[in-house]
Amino acid sequence: MNNLVKTMVNRMSRITDTALTERHMDILEFAHNYYEKNKVGPLFQNLKKTTGASKEEVESLFPHGLTSVYTWIGIPIHTTNDLCKPMATVKVENFREVYLDHNATTYVREEVKKDLLKYFGGTYGFGNPSSSYNLGKKAYDLTRKAREQVSDCIKVHPEEIIFMGCGSEANNTAIKGIAFQHLEKKGHVISTVMEHPSVLKTMKYLEEIGFAVTYLDVEKDGRVTAQSVQENLREDTILVSVMAVNNEIGTINPITEIGKICRDAKVPFMVDAIQGFGKMKLRPKEMGISLMSISGHKIYAPKGVAALFINEDTSIISLIHGGGQEYGIRSGTENVGSVMALGQASKLIHSEMEKEDKRLSGLRSYFLEELRKVEPGIIVNGSMEHRNTNNLSVGFPDIDSGSLLLSLNQIGVYVSAGSACSAGSSEASATIKALGIDTERYGIIRFSFGLQNKKEDLDYLLKYLPQILEQLKAEK
Ligand SMILES: Cc1ncc(COP(=O)(O)O)c(C=O)c1O
Repeated sequence: MNNLVKTMVNRMSRITDTALTERHMDILEFAHNYYEKNKVGPLFQNLKKTTGASKEEVESLFPHGLTSVYTWIGIPIHTTNDLCKPMATVKVENFREVYLDHNATTYVREEVKKDLLKYFGGTYGFGNPSSSYNLGKKAYDLTRKAREQVSDCIKVHPEEIIFMGCGSEANNTAIKGIAFQHLEKKGHVISTVMEHPSVLKTMKYLEEIGFAVTYLDVEKDGRVTAQSVQENLREDTILVSVMAVNNEIGTINPITEIGKICRDAKVPFMVDAIQGFGKMKLRPKEMGISLMSISGHKIYAPKGVAALFINEDTSIISLIHGGGQEYGIRSGTENVGSVMALGQASKLIHSEMEKEDKRLSGLRSYFLEELRKVEPGIIVNGSMEHRNTNNLSVGFPDIDSGSLLLSLNQIGVYVSAGSACSAGSSEASATIKALGIDTERYGIIRFSFGLQNKKEDLDYLLKYLPQILEQLKAEK
C-alpha cells in the first residue's frame, strides 16, 4: 500500500470510529494487492482463501463489510453504503466487447469522424464564423449548413435552431428562458417525475425562487397522460415541459396530444427530445412544440454539442450574454467542428431511421425471447408498444443490479443499471419508483442498442448470462 492509500485508510477508520487492528490491515493489504493485479476487487471467497477471513468476520470488522474494504482503499464500487455484491468472475474464451449503452452515449460514427479530422487538420480553416473575411465566411458556412441539416430533420426553419454546449444547457435555457420572463409575478409550471435531472433540477431551482411546479406522475406503462396535463393546467401556468422519450425505460410520451392541449391553452410547450431525436419522427410545428432540445452524443456526434429548437413565435430570455452569437440567444463563439458534426450526424441518422428502427425491433424481440429462456422471471419495465426500439429495460429477480452490471463488465458487456449501486446512489430513480417496481426484488438493467449491435453480440451475452446469474444468486 502506498502512502496515499494508507492515509485514506487512516482517515476512513477515524471517520467511522473503527479502531484499526493488524487483522484490518491484513485484509486491506490483500484486497489492495488483489486489485492492483486483477483490476477488480476480491470476492469473499478470495479473501477467505488467502487471509482466512470469513464473510462474517469482514462484516464484523468493517462498518459496511466488503464495501468498506473496497472504498477504504479506493476500489471503485459506485455506492455509498448500500451493498453492491462483488461481481462473479466468468472465464471467457472468446472475449469481445459489446456496447449496449447507447442511451448513455454513442461513439462518433466513421463518416463524422472523417470530417472532424479534416476540420481539426485545417481543411476548412480555423476562422471565427462571426468574422467578415473569407476565413470567417468558411466557418460561417459550416455552421449554416449544419443549421440547415438539423432543421431539415424536423422540418423547421434554420433560424429556429440554436447551437449550444450540451443537452443539459439546452434544457436549462428553454425552461429558465421562459420562466425568467415571469420573474415578477412568478407562475406555475407543469412537468413530470420522469424527466432527466437537467429538467428536474431546473424545476427544483424554479421552486426555490418562488415558482410553483406540478410534477405529473407516471402511469404503470411508464408514460404520462395528456389528460393529466389538461387537468393540471392553471390560469397562471407559464410552461409545460414533458420529455419525448424517457432515458431509462425508453417509453414515448403522447407529445402530439399534449402539444394540442398546450396550443389551445396558449401555454409554451417544451420537449426534451434528446432520446427521441433520430429515433422517431419529430415535427414540432405539427406537434405544438414551442421548444425542443437535442444532443450530439446520443446520435453518433461528439459530446459537448447540442441544439435547441425555438419556435419563431416563442421568445426566451437569454442565459448567456456576450457577443450576440446564435441570434443573441446563446453568446459565445460556436464550436464549429462539433456543430458541423452534429449537422452531419443528424442528417445521417434520419436518413437511416426507418430501416434501423425495423432492424432494432427484430433484434430486441429476439433478445427478449432469449432472455426469457435464460430467466423466465424477468419483468420488462414500461410499455413495449410505446417505446423506442433501441431500449429494453429489464428487472432480473433476486439479482443485485450493481453486481450484474459489474459482472457483465467483466466479460466486456457494457450496460446501465436502473437503480441502486451502479448509479452511485442507493435510491431507485423516480421513473423506476413511479412504475411501482419492487426494487428490493428486481435488479434493473437497461440495455440500449445501436448501429453496430448485431445478433452475435447478443448471443455472446446470452451465452455467459446463465452462469453469471447463477453465481450472483449463489453469492447472496
Ligand atoms: C433525456 C435526456 N435529457 C438530457 C440529457 C442531457 O444531455 P447532455 O448529456 O448532452 O447534457 C440526457 C443525457 O443523458 C438525456 O438522456
